[in-house]
Amino acid sequence: GTEAASSGPLAGRRVLITAGGTREALDPVRFLGNRSSGKQGIALAQAARDAGATVHLIAGHVETELPSGVEISNVSSALELHDATRAAAENADVVIMAAAVADYRPVSVGEHKMKKSEDGTDPVIELTRNPDILRALVDDRKNTGREQLIVGFAAETGDGEHSVLDFGRAKLQRKGCDLLVVNEVGTSKVFGQDTTEVTVLSAHGTEDAHAAGSKAEVAQFIVDRVGIELGV
Ligand code: CTP
Ligand code: CA
Repeated sequence: GTEAASSGPLAGRRVLITAGGTREALDPVRFLGNRSSGKQGIALAQAARDAGATVHLIAGHVETELPSGVEISNVSSALELHDATRAAAENADVVIMAAAVADYRPVSVGEHKMKKSEDGTDPVIELTRNPDILRALVDDRKNTGREQLIVGFAAETGDGEHSVLDFGRAKLQRKGCDLLVVNEVGTSKVFGQDTTEVTVLSAHGTEDAHAAGSKAEVAQFIVDRVGIELGV
């Protein structure tokens, strides 16, 4: 069924979660994508549902089964995710942006399948920036005055000079969200894996909290942190 559990720490709360990767079309058969499996966002939807929340999941491209007992919207591109998420956020108490949003999309989308050039020149794909959905949500909240908890994710690798958490703290500031779930990524780490390790940073002075385990366990931990921020 789609009814929310009537009890639990998040009973009566409406939680919007985005999950999975976006695909940016090049032509009718080709796209630019990413390695997100959607597993963490889906685990979050399940954990929030089991905590009693009414959950709306906006799913991009995922490699795992979608959960039952939650409302589901399917999207493909970052622009579709942007429109669907901003609309759905109008009546959400909590928004969790777990989706892997493409930062750029091709400037033009071919109407027909692209053919190789006759003269041997190689194509160059010109890209343009996608809107920052998380920042738009923070702006919408401010402009409407609505009360809402906004949670972002950060996929970081760190570099020689800055640690993953240095980048995470800077990103939390930049985005203006309440919580930022930071994890370390790489081609074999996190993406598509069943276990993960995160640090949750809070904009409200709450101490950093670290969790490791299955994506279900980490989801439970994040939902617990959301409960703490909501004061439940
Ligand atoms: N995000 C978003 N819209 C985008 C890009 C990212 O809403 N166009 C969200 C992601 O869903 C995530 C958070 O912003 O919750 C951080 O994503 P990340 O890719 O780590 O941040 P960026 O601001 O894109 O920074 P970077 O240049 O490091 O990729
Ligand atoms: Ca990005």
